[in-house]
Amino acid sequence: MSVAAVVPAAGSGTRLGAGAPKAFVPLAGVPIVVRAVDGLLASGVVDEVLVAVPASLVNQAEELLAGRPVRVLVGGAERTATVRRALESLEARAAHGGERAVTPEGHADIVLVHDAARPLTPPALIASVVEAVRAGHPAVVPVLPLADTVKQVVGSHVESTVDRSRLRAVQTPQGFTVDTLRAAYAQSGVDAVATDDAGLVERVGGTVHTVPGDPAAFKVTTAWDLRIAELLLEGS
Ligand code: CTP
Ligand code: MG
Repeated sequence: MSVAAVVPAAGSGTRLGAGAPKAFVPLAGVPIVVRAVDGLLASGVVDEVLVAVPASLVNQAEELLAGRPVRVLVGGAERTATVRRALESLEARAAHGGERAVTPEGHADIVLVHDAARPLTPPALIASVVEAVRAGHPAVVPVLPLADTVKQVVGSHVESTVDRSRLRAVQTPQGFTVDTLRAAYAQSGVDAVATDDAGLVERVGGTVHTVPGDPAAFKVTTAWDLRIAELLLEGS
């Protein structure tokens, strides 16, 4: 069963505010997207990677990722649109009998969607997501319990305290059978916007399985996160 990984890296990184799209910001000298892609390849379970970047940075991404089994394409205005484009690209390739992401029957088996913005994701977590899909779960997400108490607020007023025991923070990579993710995107309509891919599977009635996440798979969103990532690399 072949595995293709889609890496959305086309965001602008507004909250990081580093003066460049987040995926291209260096983390201890290596661009965030390069670290994310190398983590996927180090897992040993990924056959090929599709990286979606802003249109103006395609050439730069190709240079940064040269020598790896990676294709670079142009992302969309929202993360959902970016992943949709990558899935279409995967499909077009399958239709043309392309190489690695395609079985003898003519379609890819498993697709991972992994944020470029999670550069320190342990390869073992990536492998565990693929393993769960292989074990028969058509949609898989890594999750962590929440440490903080969570309250629902309106303006500055607390409305209620949420039962934290049933809440989970969701990470990437998220893993799917290709048919499952494709169907979810097809049924969700081109204007659908979701903050993660499993959310679209849920919307169309699919079952999403969880596996234990890893704190190291945290998303670099703010300057604080980037600093934490730098410190983690220094200490390793
Ligand atoms: N992403 C994408 N295409 C978009 C928007 C986001 O590929 N149109 C990607 C980002 O590059 C990132 C991942 O989706 O790897 C998660 O998004 P987020 O952390 O929100 O990154 P940005 O959108 O870049 O950051 P911000 O929201 O602060 O601008
Ligand atoms: Mg964003």
